[in-house]
Amino acid sequence: MVKDTIFSPSFGNRPSYLLGRDDVVQSFLQGLSTEPGNRERAVLLLGQRGSGKTVLLWELADRARDMGYVVANPTVTSRDMLDRIIEKVQSDGERLYKKRSSHVTGGSIGALGFSAGLQFTREEQETKSFQYKLTQLSKALTEQGRGLLILVDELQANSPEIRQLVIAYQEIVGEQLNIALIMAGLPSAVSATLNDKVLTFLNRARKVVLTPLSLAEIDAFYAKSFDELGLTVNPELRREATRATKGSPYMFQLVGHYIALYADAGEELAKSTLGDALYAAQSDYENDICDTTLAALSEQDVKFLQAMSEDAQMSKMSEIAERMSVSQDYAQKYRKRLIDAGVIEAQGRGFVRFAVPYLADRLRNDPLF
Ligand SMILES: Nc1ncnc2c1ncn2[C@@H]1O[C@H](COP(=O)(O)OP(=O)(O)OP(=O)(O)O)[C@@H](O)[C@H]1O
Ligand SMILES: [Mg+2]
Repeated sequence: MVKDTIFSPSFGNRPSYLLGRDDVVQSFLQGLSTEPGNRERAVLLLGQRGSGKTVLLWELADRARDMGYVVANPTVTSRDMLDRIIEKVQSDGERLYKKRSSHVTGGSIGALGFSAGLQFTREEQETKSFQYKLTQLSKALTEQGRGLLILVDELQANSPEIRQLVIAYQEIVGEQLNIALIMAGLPSAVSATLNDKVLTFLNRARKVVLTPLSLAEIDAFYAKSFDELGLTVNPELRREATRATKGSPYMFQLVGHYIALYADAGEELAKSTLGDALYAAQSDYENDICDTTLAALSEQDVKFLQAMSEDAQMSKMSEIAERMSVSQDYAQKYRKRLIDAGVIEAQGRGFVRFAVPYLADRLRNDPLF
């Protein structure tokens, strides 16, 4: 065993190094320099489980702060989401006041129309709406030449809180205040069954789909990290480890971590030890990603996937329908649902394939599904 100071396979855990997301980060930062209301400032981050949505939100929070933004750290869609957002804006905004009050004596009373920093009076706190509070905070920050960035994680587009947030955001944009919003979620979070303001808003927002990481980049990172950890891994075995990640950020962390865990310090990594590490990584991945993905699907969705799992690479629609003993039209309905959910993807005319790594293995290996 080697002490692993590099890999951290755990949800929401900031990686020691964020791989392959430079383009997304850069284009978002450029968006922040556009004028309020620009569509680049409302971003929808979509990706499968373990694709790195949460850690990317935290990275964007840091980078926006460096640009002078006040940031409401990622808030998960929930009933108290709106209150939490206000609290987070206030607490992050306090940084500015602390800095300033170390220079100015007499405190910041009245400076922004707030009695102290970005706090509301007790009456406002108790009686005013979320929209009022967020607008006041945006105004105060815009007047100070600051912007406000709100981050939402685990988007559930049909929740009333998201609806309220979107409405408030649009009104604040209407007042030309400096605000930006990023919402991250599973591809299935934006369902076509939504048919109101939220859907229109999400359709207009800039969509960023988190793609798999490049294998070349993963391999280069493994080479460097194994070296740093004092592990000797022959390049052929290292490439085998790289291929096993299938570009999934979570699997990339798992594979790196288990190699460090199974390896003997001071000895070259044996092929059988790599096999043990990959087995452990895949089994965690199947548990954490594949099972959770399957649990969110309907019985018929899973039947469709089971029918697909009989094929090695890709599956023909007509054969899936036959295996399910249903009509082609019926099978098409499930095809569309699963594509919308990002679980499968179209592959040429009449074919589909799995979009979630190891899902096919999971279905083949476990009689429960
Ligand atoms: N770009 C990346 N480079 C390196 N590691 C990453 C990257 N993105 C994510 N990870 C790692 O992958 C794992 C999953 O990341 P994260 O929790 O952000 O995924 P997620 O998309 O939010 O998943 P979920 O949908 O389940 O919430 C974490 O261990 C994280 O450290
Ligand atoms: Mg997450």
